[in-house]
Amino acid sequence: MIQIQTTKDIQKLMKKYQKEGKTIGFVPTMGFLHDGHLSLVKQARTDNDIVVMSIFVNPLQFGPGEDYETYPRDIERDRNLAAKAGVDILFMPSVEDMYQQESTMIVHVKKRTNVLCGRSRIGHFDGVATVLTKLFQLIIPTRAYFGMKDAQQVAVVDGLINEFFMDIELVPVETVREEDGLAKSSRNVYLTEAERKEAAVLYQSLQYGAQLIQDGERDPGVIKKQICSMLENTTGLIDYVEIYSYPDLESLETLTGKCIIAVAVQFSKARLIDNLIIDIPSRKEGK
Ligand code: PAJ
Repeated sequence: MIQIQTTKDIQKLMKKYQKEGKTIGFVPTMGFLHDGHLSLVKQARTDNDIVVMSIFVNPLQFGPGEDYETYPRDIERDRNLAAKAGVDILFMPSVEDMYQQESTMIVHVKKRTNVLCGRSRIGHFDGVATVLTKLFQLIIPTRAYFGMKDAQQVAVVDGLINEFFMDIELVPVETVREEDGLAKSSRNVYLTEAERKEAAVLYQSLQYGAQLIQDGERDPGVIKKQICSMLENTTGLIDYVEIYSYPDLESLETLTGKCIIAVAVQFSKARLIDNLIIDIPSRKEGK
């Protein structure tokens, strides 16, 4: 595995691979790798000649009072996991290199951000879109891999790639879960033992919502209320329980088509999110 620290060096190396006509799979991360990240690498490994992973805790996507300083970091462990998973190039730039002192540009995301995490994390998706624009520009990947655990991020990246005519195939990858259903996350290490046990209810509540839809319920209000009452049994504070169309993230009076049920719960030191995407066939006339 080649390790690269500077924007100049990665650009030089990627140009060489592009000239050789290699396909390039890119997995952007903030490190503290777990099986969720590694499932993206696995998919990228299958689809491409070269697999690039970036590890960069991006200050621009953290708001004031969020966990930028305390975000878990373990570069030694990450290096080993990335190499074992089959990463060819590990790119770990510094903040100073990615954001020059006199930076004058950010990418502002206008749609798909006034709901879910975008509503409680002002500026978060501008930070994500800005860093990804920079990373895509440096790496020029054939394909970029993103986890559906962050479904709103996938919707934003979809807009970024399409609207800026980026010649990149977005590959969404299913959420990897612990045995009890909790979505794997770098932030799970912040949970106390008791909270870790309770946290399984996030996925259970989503499954319950999906079951209600399966049984014919189409009123998002009814489903949200049922999910809330399950989540209220935890010590965590509910940040949101929402159901929208996906990927447009628009409100629906009656559920139909591709929808997302999404939840966020704030525990003492970790804010956990999870979601399910459900495809609801439209009811046939006369039924
Ligand atoms: P990070 O939280 O490190 O996640 C990197 C990628 O791993 C994202 O695409 C995320 O959706 C995916 N991922 C995380 N947990 C997963 C799980 N349990 N199953 C499947 N995939 C999972 O997301 C970011 O970093 C940043 O916003 C980034 C895109 C790197 C931009 O800074």
